[in-house]
Amino acid sequence: MSNDLCDFIRSIYPNKEVIALHEPYFFGEEKNMLCEAIDTTMVSTIGPFVEKCEQEIAKFTGVAYAVAMSNGTSALHIALLCAGVKKDDLVITQSLGFVATCNAISYCNADPVFVDIDRDSLSLSPEKLALWLEENTQTIDGVCVENTTKRRVSACLPIYILGHSIRSDALKTICDKHCLKLVEDAAEAVGSHDEHGKHAGMDSTVSALSFNGNKIITSGGGGMLITNNPTIAKQAKHLSTTAKINNSDMIAHDEIGYNYRMPNLNAALLYAQLLHVKEILKAKRLLAEKYHDFCQKHGLHSLKQREGTLANYWLNAIACDSAEECKNTLKYLNDHKIMARPIWQPMHLSRMFTHALRSPDLSNTLWAYEHIVCLPSSITKKLLEG
Ligand SMILES: Cc1ncc(COP(=O)(O)O)c(C=O)c1O
Repeated sequence: MSNDLCDFIRSIYPNKEVIALHEPYFFGEEKNMLCEAIDTTMVSTIGPFVEKCEQEIAKFTGVAYAVAMSNGTSALHIALLCAGVKKDDLVITQSLGFVATCNAISYCNADPVFVDIDRDSLSLSPEKLALWLEENTQTIDGVCVENTTKRRVSACLPIYILGHSIRSDALKTICDKHCLKLVEDAAEAVGSHDEHGKHAGMDSTVSALSFNGNKIITSGGGGMLITNNPTIAKQAKHLSTTAKINNSDMIAHDEIGYNYRMPNLNAALLYAQLLHVKEILKAKRLLAEKYHDFCQKHGLHSLKQREGTLANYWLNAIACDSAEECKNTLKYLNDHKIMARPIWQPMHLSRMFTHALRSPDLSNTLWAYEHIVCLPSSITKKLLEG
């Protein structure tokens, strides 16, 4: 089987000796836009490309406001602060995810609580979230309090995994019932839509996107906070601009802020990529179809978008029948210079977060960790041509 998979992947990337997991695709305008930023000397955090990208992303995702940040992690950090997460709070999230999510919670001096995922979305399970909240918290004067530690639970932070849509609607209903803010880590989900046609992050209090070099569109390094709340948008811009007061008579700051804004140079690259985001998504979905067809013919289980949703298929993946098969597949592909990767080690197994509170049932998280293989998912000229 691995041999056929290897041949199939090589047929998608025929000229590559080493096949990367995910490479950016550049169309040509990128160089011109980067030169434009350099020629105007506007290479730092103020410049027209930053504002243009914010407008384009707001339009593309359907939110009212987008605030450009230096990366997805800083966007997450500011999103949590703007959602009101404070020192010693608890934030419910999933253990299956990239470390940046939990790091951002830690930057707020708060701690994660891990609840299990669903297998089909790989994201926070609404049913398991509701159960954990019923069994472990009570609402006192509009504040959700964890029973044993008496700590405030202030937010819920689900993660879009590999570009698959999450159950945002159901999560939001539960969050509202328990007085929690819904903050979404949509770092991997530019172009993903739920069953109601809503873009990732659109229904939350505030969400974060990433434009890292490995994402479907890139600014090299970069991220964006998206929200429909004008107060949050204003606060996010203020906090990420070192909390500088807008006053031409003096240079002053009114709180501890962060130097987190996206430089115009990076925004120039992102703007050029944004011109092609729809083509990129089409090519990504074509590649996913090819993987699905191959997997169906060879008895493999490819991860498919949930019924009615639209995944961006940032990374295509298969779920193996056993942990052993998963290890063998990874080894075979890597030995043949194909950069397949396992999914991240769950956060509750990472040294920094073993102390964190968690639901006793993380069975789907462990299943995903032991069975999923992520496969090369870069787009090519041929995929773009259809
Ligand atoms: C799920 C998730 N969250 C957060 C991040 C952090 O984004 P960045 O690398 O832009 O800081 C990433 C990706 O890199 C991610 O995949």
